[in-house]
Amino acid sequence: MEPYSKAYTSISKAKKYIEERVSLRGLVVIETEVKAVSQLMEKVNSKEVVVELGIGSGAFGFNLMNNKSVNNYIGLDSSLAMLSMAKKNLNMVFRSLKPNVDLVLGDARYLPFKQASFNGVISIRLISHLSNKYVVFKEVSRVLNSRGFMVFDYYDSESLLALIGAQKEKRGDFTNLKELQGCINDAELSIRGSASAFLLGLTLYDKIPEILLKPLKLFDSLFSQLPFLRRYATRKFVLITKNIDVPAPQTLKTS
Ligand SMILES: C[S@@+](CC[C@H](N)C(=O)[O-])C[C@H]1O[C@@H](n2cnc3c(N)ncnc32)[C@H](O)[C@@H]1O
Repeated sequence: MEPYSKAYTSISKAKKYIEERVSLRGLVVIETEVKAVSQLMEKVNSKEVVVELGIGSGAFGFNLMNNKSVNNYIGLDSSLAMLSMAKKNLNMVFRSLKPNVDLVLGDARYLPFKQASFNGVISIRLISHLSNKYVVFKEVSRVLNSRGFMVFDYYDSESLLALIGAQKEKRGDFTNLKELQGCINDAELSIRGSASAFLLGLTLYDKIPEILLKPLKLFDSLFSQLPFLRRYATRKFVLITKNIDVPAPQTLKTS
């Protein structure tokens, strides 16, 4: 098991993560993530998300479901502790709506699903931290059907935050488009769109007083739209799809 994955296996660590995720700061972050992912899903015109890799407690996934009124969802996670939290949250969040959610214990690198089973895969706050990203994309490509898409995020090593070293201790978890593009292409997937968020980064969200969260969020969402600043944002969200088969060139008839 990767060190990153181990960090979520105990109940106490899982609880600590969840506390942070449902704090006022955490909720601001989730709202921004849901907005970025929803925007990218519009491009493939799909409400259908089927699997979330690394669903954790469902803090992101259940909010996305609410936002896009998705009714069928499979949440996969390698930590039983996180999945048990997700189960509790599920009952709390969707008391009356009762969507169809299955929670599955499993590893994103070895998906327990048949090939071409799904149209949509989402993964938030996971892939950037795994050392063998190539294997994950290969697995995603295997389980997606021919119209399938995936939306995931990463922490950009070329962002302002990484460049000034503000997240030095977490630098190993940062990656960049070049590294990802190699893995994505090898898995026969293609990048179709991207979105950016958190120009000032999560570190500042952690440090500033809550009263400044909303103005900071507004600042980030305005400036993340400007192409020349967008590249410096900490979090990048990417839409990828299966490679569409290029038709074979027609044979020229000779008379
Ligand atoms: C930072 S949490 C993100 C949870 C959720 N996506 C969210 O945004 O609230 C990362 C989650 O990925 C899970 N995880 C770590 N390694 C994994 C792996 N190899 N396969 C599946 N899940 C994994 C962890 O147990 C944890 O629940």
